[in-house]
Amino acid sequence: MIRVLSGIQPSGELHLGNYVGALRQWVAFQDEYDAFYCVVDLHALTLELAPEDLRARTFDAACSLLAAGLDPDRCTLFCQSHVPEHPRLAWLLECTATMGELNRMTQFKDKSTRQEAVRVGLFTYPVLMAADILAYHAGAVPVGDDQRQHLELARELAQRFNNRYGETFTVPEAVVPAFGGRVMDLQHPRRKMSKSVDSPLGTVQVLDSPQEIARKVRKAVTDTDGDVRYDPGDKPGLANLLDLMAAATGQRPEDVAGKYTRYGDLKADLAEALVEMLRPLRERYDAYSADRGAVEAVLAGGAERAREVAAATYARAAGAIGLLPPA
Ligand code: TYM
Repeated sequence: MIRVLSGIQPSGELHLGNYVGALRQWVAFQDEYDAFYCVVDLHALTLELAPEDLRARTFDAACSLLAAGLDPDRCTLFCQSHVPEHPRLAWLLECTATMGELNRMTQFKDKSTRQEAVRVGLFTYPVLMAADILAYHAGAVPVGDDQRQHLELARELAQRFNNRYGETFTVPEAVVPAFGGRVMDLQHPRRKMSKSVDSPLGTVQVLDSPQEIARKVRKAVTDTDGDVRYDPGDKPGLANLLDLMAAATGQRPEDVAGKYTRYGDLKADLAEALVEMLRPLRERYDAYSADRGAVEAVLAGGAERAREVAAATYARAAGAIGLLPPA
């Protein structure tokens, strides 16, 4: 059975882009693959977050993932920092990666302009991500479009390590949804919807009330020519709405466009489709967040299972690279 692994940062509330670009696939993949999913709290340390916020958001992210439909009987859900082999393996991969290739990472270039004193962890972030993936021999990694470059790096590092030290890692593939792989901010449709950018009206949170979702969709920025056609280059706001409708209903965005003559009608139907899509998550979330013990038990069980796999991979990689095994 092919293994999948993916992760999400607990750096803010989960939003519609996370759900459509990644989470929905995670839920579907539980039945087809041996699925490992983690809340990547170590990655969130690359940003400024108060310790109590990081703790609370990590727990909330786990609740949202369970509410979205991850089932601990069908997947392994864990918290990244509970499996110390991730940073251990990351070090071996840091000694495999080069400054040049990390300097080319567009997310680093983008995020580092927002930090006054750029953290070293922000620079090496993609290597830790590669370790997350390679530790599990994941063949497939369900992610949004923005992670493609990081996946390329993970592939490159796996191949380089295998060539230098012998077959150790599986070379992973990114799996990006056909539509909804890049959900744009509803107020700034040329900018990706993001946890780390403050755009309350442009970001639909997965736990928003139906009224909030409808309001944000109604106020979404489009254009003034009034012609409903799918043209991401010229009409990015409308294309984003059509992509979302396509993702929510399983149609092609061009076909969705053919059904409407007015933006207002599309927005009304889209709001309804999004409310319905997110309803189960919203309804189940409170039950999980009220049952701290149960969620912590899920994470503990997940970490134990994850650690078995990751420890074996780490031992193999450490041996291959020439570290003396502990007696
Ligand atoms: P993160 O936490 O930013 O996002 C989690 C997932 O949501 C996807 N995503 C989007 N998809 C569509 N439209 C958007 N606007 C949008 N915003 C986010 C992301 O592509 C991602 O799949 N580096 C990763 C976390 C990570 C990881 C990993 C992922 C760490 N280790 C190992 C996969 C495998 C990140 O920051 O995702």
